[in-house]
Amino acid sequence: MTTAATTSDMREQTGVLLGHLAGYVAHRTVTIGQRSGLLNALSAAGESGITPDELAESLELDPFYVATWCRAAYAAQVCDRDGDIYRLAPHMGTLLLDHAAPGFVGGVYGVLEQPELFSRFEQELGSGERLWWDGCSSEFIRAVSGTGRPFYRRLVPGGLDQVPGLAARLAEGCRVLDTACGAGLGLVMLADAYPECELVGVDGDAFSLEVAEENLRAAGHADRVQLVHSPLEKMTFDDRFGVVINNISMHECRDIDLVTRNVRDALEPGGWFVISDFPFPDTDEGLATVPGRIMAGVQFFEAQIDDQLLPRSAYDELLTRHGFTDLGSAELTPVHALTWGRRPA
Ligand SMILES: C[S@@+](CC[C@H](N)C(=O)[O-])C[C@H]1O[C@@H](n2cnc3c(N)ncnc32)[C@H](O)[C@@H]1O
Repeated sequence: MTTAATTSDMREQTGVLLGHLAGYVAHRTVTIGQRSGLLNALSAAGESGITPDELAESLELDPFYVATWCRAAYAAQVCDRDGDIYRLAPHMGTLLLDHAAPGFVGGVYGVLEQPELFSRFEQELGSGERLWWDGCSSEFIRAVSGTGRPFYRRLVPGGLDQVPGLAARLAEGCRVLDTACGAGLGLVMLADAYPECELVGVDGDAFSLEVAEENLRAAGHADRVQLVHSPLEKMTFDDRFGVVINNISMHECRDIDLVTRNVRDALEPGGWFVISDFPFPDTDEGLATVPGRIMAGVQFFEAQIDDQLLPRSAYDELLTRHGFTDLGSAELTPVHALTWGRRPA
């Protein structure tokens, strides 16, 4: 028998599912807008705005399709409109198009559309066959680097400034190691922010290091940064570092205790280890929030490379286990937290 209560429950549950569909439509609207140039053209039109016909003409696109996209972009709250004039909604230009902004979220859209995220997971759901970075496409690696960039942007220098004593050490100059440096965008920012520091990047993926070399050369820092191709589990260095950082990669270590021991050995006494990572929710409520749901999406790729994101508290336990002192942490955004500690003097 259907009661008023079951009807109302059913309506609520339908609302949950319809919300997912609306999110999917908004996601596809954003990625079409990014790839077609529609978002860039809207941004260029600025406050005065632009009509769908003008947009279509400027990009040599079909006017009827562009009008359809514009309505969807308005529905997704990416655009405002005034009659037939469309303009980007406040801050959308920064959030979706400005790759260098600390708040840039535009990169995540493209990553979620890469086959490595969901398609390959679904194909291998039965076999559970794993993957590693050397089996990922160059587009995927570049797209991931685009999402790592705002994490580095928040870390350098703002996040590092929150670590007591660290800003002064970096300003006076010391050796800095970026572990799992990927495509090197963090090294570029470190080189820009700390001219007195000597920089080393280490990564286990050869292609990522080639891209890092390109990025460092383009930024004019190729001579200041040494790149090392090695798994973090095997890295050794002749000279010690004042600071070791790791950006959105610590959870990927095959042997996280061995890597932490290697970091400890690589640090000078009193040196800092700063882990910048996704704080995976450790409560059911946290998992069901918007940040939790996005991180649950990231886990589809992490599973394929044989790991999972970790709760931030796991890093407190890790650093404590390896004798680090002066532990601290900071939440930079709901999907970005820092954890740090010092090698005992
Ligand atoms: C998510 S990407 C992040 C790269 C970079 N830190 C960034 O934020 O753009 C992860 C990187 O970690 C590297 N990596 C993962 N596990 C590793 C390990 N055990 N040893 C060395 N590199 C590793 C991968 O090759 C990849 O470049």
